[in-house]
Amino acid sequence: MPAPFRYLKPGYVALNVTEPERSSRFFESIVGLTEEPGADGVRFFRCSADHHNLALYPSDAPGLKRVGFQLESAPDLERAREWIEAQGWPTQAVDADERRVLRQGPSFRFRVPESSLCFEFYAEIEQASTPFVPTLAKIQRLGHIVIGSPQPEALLATLTEKLNFRVSDYFGDQVTFLRCFPNPYHHSFGVARTERDCLHHVNFMVSEIDDVGRALNRLRKNEVEIVYGPGRHDISNSIFLYYLDPDGMTIEYSFGMEEFAEVGAREARVLPMRPEILDCWGGLPAPKFAKVGAIERAAGSSVETRA
Ligand SMILES: [Fe+2]
Repeated sequence: MPAPFRYLKPGYVALNVTEPERSSRFFESIVGLTEEPGADGVRFFRCSADHHNLALYPSDAPGLKRVGFQLESAPDLERAREWIEAQGWPTQAVDADERRVLRQGPSFRFRVPESSLCFEFYAEIEQASTPFVPTLAKIQRLGHIVIGSPQPEALLATLTEKLNFRVSDYFGDQVTFLRCFPNPYHHSFGVARTERDCLHHVNFMVSEIDDVGRALNRLRKNEVEIVYGPGRHDISNSIFLYYLDPDGMTIEYSFGMEEFAEVGAREARVLPMRPEILDCWGGLPAPKFAKVGAIERAAGSSVETRA
């Protein structure tokens, strides 16, 4: 039985950062997000009318705190909660105090056995009184989050069979690109094969190739380390540029992406693991590409990587 709920989009990503002030300046003055009022030490940024598409939490170690997916409707959210609990995975409702901080409607969190990643599902989020006004880059949306896993096959089985993700393409057995159905974009989530659970990168999609070109010069001028690109992903037909945030976590701008119809979409392809598949312009990632960012484990969990 397919999962009985539908996604709207990847809603927001929550990152742990070691120096929130420094990271806030970076995400506003380099990446080009708009800061919204925060509370309880959490700082929020948006690239849409949503109250936030990025949340920064102070922490001793940089990494991925959780990923928030927005579902299509309140009934989808309720069906999702029942379905997830029926799998034997406990859900935790976000309490009223925290929802006031997040400015979200009913929301719940859960983890699956194959990853330490905390998923959050919600259907409603406060809308800003003004649309996102681009400053540095015409950011369209939070595009995708890619995580690393030492056991991607097991995690992918759960994501596709239980959580309504669809595979768009496989880069050999190293990276799998998934869309949160029925969101049309080639990938809103991805899983790379890595030695341990980790953040791989966070992507923001931009509107024009000029956004990528201007970013290249802005990043250089501000001595932000570029770790891959500019280049073109053959897989999703995106022009990309990857760079490091102040903690060393990998952030990406990309322009253009294949879209899938809800009905009649092509089958996933298994693409050969050649560097030019990832960058048909011939570039290679730098050693620091996608190397920083632990996935925050559940409180009390001492398990390094679950077997
Ligand atoms: Fe990406």
